[in-house]
Formats: sequence, C-alpha cells, structure tokens
Amino acid sequence: MKLLIKGGRIINPADNMDTVGDILIEDGRIAEIGQNLAIDGAEILDAAGLVVTPGFVDMHVHLREPGLEAKEDIASGTRAAAAGGFTTVACMPNTKPVVDNSILVSGLIQRGQTEGVVNLKIIGALSKGLEGKELAEIGDMIQAGVVAISDDGGHLDSTRLLKTGLEYTGMFGRPVITHSEDEELASEGFMHEGEVSAMLGLKGRPSVAEDIAVAKDIMLAEYTNSPIHIAHVSSKGAVELIRQAKQRGVKVTAEVTPHHLTLTDDELKTFNTAFKVNPPLRSADHVEALVAGLKDGTLDAIATDHAPHAFEEKDVEFRYAPSGFAGLETALGVVLTGLYHTGKLTLLEVIEKMSYRPAKILGLESGVLKVGAPADITIIDTEYQWTVDCIKFYTRGKHSPFEGRNLRGKSLITIVNGSIIMQNGEVLK
Ligand code: DOR
Repeated sequence: MKLLIKGGRIINPADNMDTVGDILIEDGRIAEIGQNLAIDGAEILDAAGLVVTPGFVDMHVHLREPGLEAKEDIASGTRAAAAGGFTTVACMPNTKPVVDNSILVSGLIQRGQTEGVVNLKIIGALSKGLEGKELAEIGDMIQAGVVAISDDGGHLDSTRLLKTGLEYTGMFGRPVITHSEDEELASEGFMHEGEVSAMLGLKGRPSVAEDIAVAKDIMLAEYTNSPIHIAHVSSKGAVELIRQAKQRGVKVTAEVTPHHLTLTDDELKTFNTAFKVNPPLRSADHVEALVAGLKDGTLDAIATDHAPHAFEEKDVEFRYAPSGFAGLETALGVVLTGLYHTGKLTLLEVIEKMSYRPAKILGLESGVLKVGAPADITIIDTEYQWTVDCIKFYTRGKHSPFEGRNLRGKSLITIVNGSIIMQNGEVLK
C-alpha cells in the first residue's frame, strides 16, 4: 500500500530540515521525500497548512499492565498515545507484579503487538520487586528486548545497588533511568516545600531532595562511565547539576514533563488532586530554570510521565490521593501553547525533544524522517484551538491538571508503521 503525504511543512530535527514537500510511504517505511511527487495508485493525504513531523516518542509512561488495569492497560494507553500524536511509548515497570524478569518482558512485548496501536517499548526494573535490595534479571531482560532499566516510582536509595546496576546495564549500552528524589527527605511530603506548602499546612517534598539524589546518581554514572537518564527533572538545582555533568562529559541525559514546564505549586491552593504528582509542581523560579535547561540542551527530551489512576482513587481528600495523572493526550497542546506560542522554543526544538532525542536515548530507529526509516509520522496543526475535556480522553485516567484549559495546537493524524491510526482526534483501531 502506498500513502502520499502532500504539501505539508516537513520538520525533521535530525538534519534541521524545515521545508514544504511530500513524503511517500510504502510497505510501512518512508520510500521518498521530495517536492511535487506524483505516484500512481497512492492514497493521497493532503497536509497543506499542517506540519509533518517524526512520530512522537514518549520515553516515560505508566500503562499499568500487568495487574493495575483499573487505571490503564495497553489497549487504552496506546490509544491515548495515538490520540496525542505519539507513535512509540516506553512503559515503566512499577506494575503488579513488577516487570523484573524476561518472561514478563516477552509477554508485554507480545501484548503490545496484539493489543497496542502504537509501538510499545518496555523498561525493566533495576531491582527485584522494586525493593531496592537485589538486582533484577537485567541481562535476561535486555536480551528479551527492554530499552532501559529503571526503578521509577521511587528513588533507588541503595548506592551499592545503583552502582552495580549501572555497571551491568552500561555493558549493554542501555541507560538506567532514575527517579531522583531522596526518599528520606521526600517520601512523607505531599507537594513542593515552600511558601505555598507552609500556607496550606501540607508537608513538603523539598527541592533539595531532588538535588541530592541527582548529584548522587550522576556521581555513580560518572564513576562507572555508564549512561544514566534522569527522569522528570523538576528542580533548578538538578538542572545545574546535569548541565555541569554534561560539560564534564558524563553520559547523562534528562527529561522534563509538560506539567513541570508550565505549572507551579500555586495550583495546589485549590487542593485539587489532579495537581498531585511526584516530583511535585514547584515554584516559578524552578519552572524558569527548566525552560532554560530545555532550551540550552541540558534537558534532552520532553516526556509525559503519563501516570493514570482510576477516577475513584484520585477523587478523595488531597492527602490520600495517589500521585500522577494522564499526560499523553494533552502533552503537545500544552507544550505548543506554553512554550512555542510564547516564543520560548522554536517548533523544531519542540519536535526534536518529543521525537528525535528520546528515540536516540532509547536507541530506536524512529524519530527521523528519512528514506528507509519506519513510517512513524505525526501531522500537527499548530493553530488548532481546543479545550481539554478529560471525559473525552482515551486513557482511563480521567484526571488532568489541564482540565478546562484552552490549548492551541494538536496532532491531527498519527501514522504508525505506514498505517493511519488516528485522524482528527479519532483513533481508528
Ligand atoms: O506521580 C507519579 N506517579 N510519579 C511517579 O514517579 C510514579 C507515578 C505513578 O506510577 O503513579
């Protein structure tokens, strides 16, 4: 089957391409990129006035399978991804049971193929049962196909285990992804520690908890000379530590979420549990440092940390609500509205951080528009105005801190391996 995307503004961060042209897709791969292509028998997709980009890659989602399907599963989570313009997602192992062995990894890869509508990549646990005591079957899981290793959900406090995990994972050239928040300092807190937490009388998770953990995690990566990726960076101290480490040549990469880039702890004044997340939304000075870090390349990727919970779990008093919320269906709109339309990032930078860079970090073939690459493509309208309505989400997680917001920019078409799987907001599979 041939599909011809005609007359779109093609943006390809891999080679800084920004040009109006056509893309021909054949047998699931990109067959030709050029001007005024005329191909007999091809289905035509008119992209005039729209932006054609490499499919977005979200390197940090929680799809909750196995065991926590009341929150999400592969079918609902990958549909949410497709609706948001993502063609690949990498899911975290904090499930029940924890994904800490190759049998579960193989099972999930299979489930991704039968139930998923976008490419599903698996991240395996670093420690057995995420208990931070014993290494999981890292080598086996890498052979079974995991793209990274992580104990995300909490910080791996055992320096010994993280050191061994880095040594081991580094031998395979895969990154360890850390949730860097010192447990002892952070675990009893509900929100960012600062003026707002003092006013509300809620115990805080101080930014220094993140700084300390990031410093420690970077030191171990430097010592072992192994790749480390810092998840959902939220503190200005962490940004600076990563910046300095990169200057020293440490193999460190980092991601930041749309919510940490655009929201502050002021939002918590409503006690709305949709704003409860770990690490927490911080004050404006931190947000400013995150945007600057993203702009100068200290922070490599934008990742959603899509962490859906069942409605009734979040619909409780603030203290008792679990942390996290859905992010896949709002990510692009939030980033375009908050960073592109305000002139803080160029469109090429946004696309680079949502496709090319995360694909590179995970060692994937996707994230680029070039002949021979998988035809994973997102077509977006940067001007499309819409209002977030959680009830309409494909994800089971019906809480979002962006509920009711007016956003400007949306993905209109998602193409995975050459097939159109989302068009005008509707997932077709
Ligand atoms: O808020 C969060 N929720 N942060 C995490 O790191 C984990 C996530 C979850 O799994 O719910």
